[in-house]
Amino acid sequence: MAHIIDGKQISQEIRDELKKEVAALAAQGREATLAVIQVGTDPASTVYVNNKKKACAYIGIRSLSYELPEETTEEELLTLIRKLNADDTVNGILVQLPVPGHIREDEIIRTIAPEKDVDGFHPQNVGKLLIGEPGFLPCTPAGVIQLLKRSGIEIAGKHCVVVGRSNIVGKPMAVLMLRENATVTVAHSKTRDLKALCRQADILIVAIGKPRFITAEYVKEGAVVIDVGIHRNEDNKLCGDVLFEEVSPHASAITPVPGGVGPMTIAMLMDNCVESMRNANA
Ligand code: GUN
Repeated sequence: MAHIIDGKQISQEIRDELKKEVAALAAQGREATLAVIQVGTDPASTVYVNNKKKACAYIGIRSLSYELPEETTEEELLTLIRKLNADDTVNGILVQLPVPGHIREDEIIRTIAPEKDVDGFHPQNVGKLLIGEPGFLPCTPAGVIQLLKRSGIEIAGKHCVVVGRSNIVGKPMAVLMLRENATVTVAHSKTRDLKALCRQADILIVAIGKPRFITAEYVKEGAVVIDVGIHRNEDNKLCGDVLFEEVSPHASAITPVPGGVGPMTIAMLMDNCVESMRNANA
């Protein structure tokens, strides 16, 4: 039976470590501020944004909240970002995605100062990740690495199959696993015989955005399975990309949904905010 990787507990450990560090920095008169911007009122985004603000409050990071109307123009949003870039009291800037269709997401991401880009989405941070220079790491893939390491799972030399190639998860996930000396294969919707490929994985990381897609047939006996997906099923219950009940008896370790990767994303965002604070005051 698989070890269930407890993302809630591991994320709590990280939050508590950060809380201590922030208190120590505060004692030296150093403070961190995260600006959180939401455009429109998408309910899922509102939940994420509120959770981020709550995590800030717990750790001792000040959060500034900008709730902008759906009809905000791109120029208005860019003007706000430029103002926050120039504000020395702001360490981190986060624009919750997706933004409404009339706003270009890539233009928003490029305008956030790379040294305040706590999401790790700016091309400069993406480039640094690729060549192994220090920079902000995207939160979800960084969270997966922490889940593996803090669960005592060896990565070096393992065959890792990443299913999904998005800029936010799949691509940076593959690079981070490579950095940890895994042998990495990236699979996607055009991959031939996905099942056979996934069955070769020692560590299978799934971010394809299809509810309960990965069945036991995709999983080698004893593999580690990390589920990045999050969906609501017909009964409005949360589920992932992996059919958990069927896969878990075959895995050596597996993340549940909810309570797996999800809580780690926010913990790593907080880590990036503290990192920004360390850098700004160093
Ligand atoms: N929307 C979904 N995931 C994310 C994330 O990690 N950061 C931001 N800013 N928006 C998101």
